[in-house]
Amino acid sequence: MSNKQVNLFSPVRIGSLEVGNRLVRSATAERLATEPIGRATPALASLLSGLARGGVGLIISGHAYVAPRGKAHPEMLSAHCDEMIPGLKTLAAAVHQNGGRIALQINHGGRHCDEACTPGTMAPSPVPTRSGRVPREMTPSDIADAADDFGRAARRAQLAGFDAVQIHGAHGYLIGQFLSPHTNRRRDAWGGSSERRLRFLAAVCEAVRGEVGAEFPVFIKLGMMDNLQRVPDGLTPDDGVRVVSRLADLKLDAVEVSGGYGGGSDFISRLAVGSKEPEAYFRSLAQRARAATHLPVILVGGLRSRALMDEVLAAGDADMISLCRPLIREPDLPNRLRSGEATAAACISGGRCWPKGMGQGIACKCEG
Ligand SMILES: Cc1cc2nc3c(=O)[nH]c(=O)nc-3n(C[C@H](O)[C@H](O)[C@H](O)COP(=O)(O)O)c2cc1C
Repeated sequence: MSNKQVNLFSPVRIGSLEVGNRLVRSATAERLATEPIGRATPALASLLSGLARGGVGLIISGHAYVAPRGKAHPEMLSAHCDEMIPGLKTLAAAVHQNGGRIALQINHGGRHCDEACTPGTMAPSPVPTRSGRVPREMTPSDIADAADDFGRAARRAQLAGFDAVQIHGAHGYLIGQFLSPHTNRRRDAWGGSSERRLRFLAAVCEAVRGEVGAEFPVFIKLGMMDNLQRVPDGLTPDDGVRVVSRLADLKLDAVEVSGGYGGGSDFISRLAVGSKEPEAYFRSLAQRARAATHLPVILVGGLRSRALMDEVLAAGDADMISLCRPLIREPDLPNRLRSGEATAAACISGGRCWPKGMGQGIACKCEG
């Protein structure tokens, strides 16, 4: 349904949360938390306050692990115990003092954890990873514990003053591992049919709502399809649509549409957007999500030019536009798009955002 009244800088709601404009900072692992425990640092607060000053409507933090065995990589932020709350408070306060809104993204890495920081990974099924590592199959009590871990982490975000929580259900982490037939080969209550593969996400949503109450905004980043070139037996767009159609029943407030398992830069964060890859490369998934739910739809993946962002909104394909790499390079891009000083992101999608060493944090290292 087209909507000509909507533009990038008109307000929007995610559940009870009013957001001043339609630009979102998509979750971006900043690699600025302490080792080994994942505490927030002043450098992370400073990065997030810079984003708030840059005018983005909603900031989503880099993924924060909900339990030690869900820690995906070194220097990842954590919400796994109450001791993390004071540090998380400094992040929410830094954003609020600069007029912004912030959601904490909560995650469990499952089989997708870096062995260097999380030995002995677990997953729905013992399917070998690309590096040949075989995760341990989760027991029913591991599964119940992991869902509860999401719930408690969400409560910590709420206590720390975050405006919302985003559940990470994309990019091949634990929730995606349960949804995907490639990584979930179970034949018990948690696998074997698309309905049973959805049960872990349903358990996570129930645990989160049980902890934060009915009013607190909770939404999801969902991988609507796996990289089927790499995993032909993975999650298909039709499977993704079925999941989207259930999200309102799971009491979620919005969905950010992304890809699932099987590749980072060649599928999720594509290189050379605008030349090799089209802008807005998950737009067709957003269109299918839009048709399957009344929840607000957030589109991420290769959004670069103001004209296309406005067009996506006016066409009604999404309600919000989410950016990751462009805001690493230009945290003030939203203000400059609003004033007309910029008409597009300078990001060339070169894939050189990650730090070279510990303690450095993300930064754009692309030339040109
Ligand atoms: C350095 C870096 C860190 C990322 N960290 C996360 C993360 O913590 N959680 C997440 O859901 N996606 C993460 N992503 C994926 C992005 O949020 C986004 O989905 C993807 O890069 C496509 O958007 P873009 O074209 O605007 O970069 C990360 C991507 C990059 C490049």
